[in-house]
Amino acid sequence: MQKKNMINRRDFLKTGMAAGAGLAMSRNVTAGTAAGSGGTDTLNIGLIGVGEQGRVLINSILKIPDVRFRAVCEIWSYNQRYGSNYLRRFGHDVNAYEDYREMLDAEPDLDAVIVATPDWVHGPQTIDALNAGKHVYCEKLMSNSIDDARKMVEAANETGKLLQIGHQRRSNPRYIHAYEKLLTEAEIFGGPFNYANAQWNRARSEPARWPERFEMDESELNKFGYGSMSELINWRWFKKYGGGPISDLGAHQIDIFNWFFKARPSGVIASGGIDYYDYFEHNDHVMAIYDYETNSGTARAFYQVLTTTSALGYHERFMGLDGTLSISESPTWNQAYREAHAESWDKYVEQGILKKTAGGTDADSDEGLVDVRETAVLDAWDLPVVLDKPIHQPHVENFFDAIRNGTPLTCPAEEGFASAVTVLKVNEAVSHQKRIAFDSKDFVV
Ligand SMILES: NC(=O)c1ccc[n+]([C@@H]2O[C@H](COP(=O)([O-])OP(=O)(O)OC[C@H]3O[C@@H](n4cnc5c(N)ncnc54)[C@H](O)[C@@H]3O)[C@@H](O)[C@H]2O)c1
Repeated sequence: MQKKNMINRRDFLKTGMAAGAGLAMSRNVTAGTAAGSGGTDTLNIGLIGVGEQGRVLINSILKIPDVRFRAVCEIWSYNQRYGSNYLRRFGHDVNAYEDYREMLDAEPDLDAVIVATPDWVHGPQTIDALNAGKHVYCEKLMSNSIDDARKMVEAANETGKLLQIGHQRRSNPRYIHAYEKLLTEAEIFGGPFNYANAQWNRARSEPARWPERFEMDESELNKFGYGSMSELINWRWFKKYGGGPISDLGAHQIDIFNWFFKARPSGVIASGGIDYYDYFEHNDHVMAIYDYETNSGTARAFYQVLTTTSALGYHERFMGLDGTLSISESPTWNQAYREAHAESWDKYVEQGILKKTAGGTDADSDEGLVDVRETAVLDAWDLPVVLDKPIHQPHVENFFDAIRNGTPLTCPAEEGFASAVTVLKVNEAVSHQKRIAFDSKDFVV
């Protein structure tokens, strides 16, 4: 049976997804070189961390022409074997390493390194890779330590190498359309947004398990800084290794607050707690309210992450005086709503930047019974942009385009750093039970 994240090899070859990789392979063969070091356009890459997200990125990257995996690094032999075997099945003859420093020493020809390890090792791995002359794509959250995140920006600046942070919504064409066409060019919402709310509601789950016969022994775990297999597998719930749900899930959407408000927050209040998973260290439910000082005045944004209930999923909503944008990585939530007083949006349909949809916001069946200001059916439009690729693919494509052609990164280190500060301070606001004020200098390296 095909596993969830795996591309079927036959589909891969049949659909032409392999066209680029296949071409690269045949070029390598004719050139008589080791697989992956062929055409001048071919980018050689190494992957650090072959867990869930490492595999998602592998499957996205396998669809991109002229990118060759040359190495994988993974401390857990079970995942290391999985990664190398999987890549070899697609013709990527990778060398496998346990220690990323060994990989950097032994693989001078790598152009770039993908970092998909737990957040606490992003700093050292990214900085060493940059210093070894590699461009780096590092998963979000940039780090669970603001100091490390700062050093990562400094290393990128000092080495002149590219550092893309994995907030993939920044390369999602639907988000780019909303930001560029609707918000900035047409200003259909009546100028900048004043308010936002966003949520990630995720269903209750048990702690992750692992196949016991493949577990790492204690001394191996300790060598890499982990206290137990549970810490390695459930790292995101422990303070040493990650920032908890507000970072794991919230980071994606709080990053969009910074982007769509075109600002950094001036303060945050928050409440949260370990309400359910009392065997873990991080708050499993968090609610935060940010203030932003934007070019057009104060804006406020509410964010909630819940990990024991999933109804209504994950999405972001931004409100301006003339309308509301509802957007998500999930195609379910991608609408714009016009306030009744705002001028017609028909011209935007003609311009192709909105698509008329049948629905409205609220049922009108209670008209006459309750205040019409709360129940008016607002006209709704769809965003006419569909992402027809896996959600992470445009973001890694942007990274490779930046290396090859100088295309600007959609989430360079400075943006990733600002998001890390914005997100991590929520944990501080919860634990100190006080409002955290930001200084604009907090976001600058
Ligand atoms: N962009 C997204 O949508 C998205 C989604 C999920 C996770 N992530 C991010 O991806 C990263 C990895 O998350 P995950 O869900 O894949 O976790 P995971 O636990 O499934 O995978 C992490 C892997 O890294 C390995 N590892 C741990 N320390 C290592 C080290 N020092 N050197 C080499 N390998 C090491 C682990 O053995 C494991 O295989 C995190 O930063 C996470 O926030 C991003």
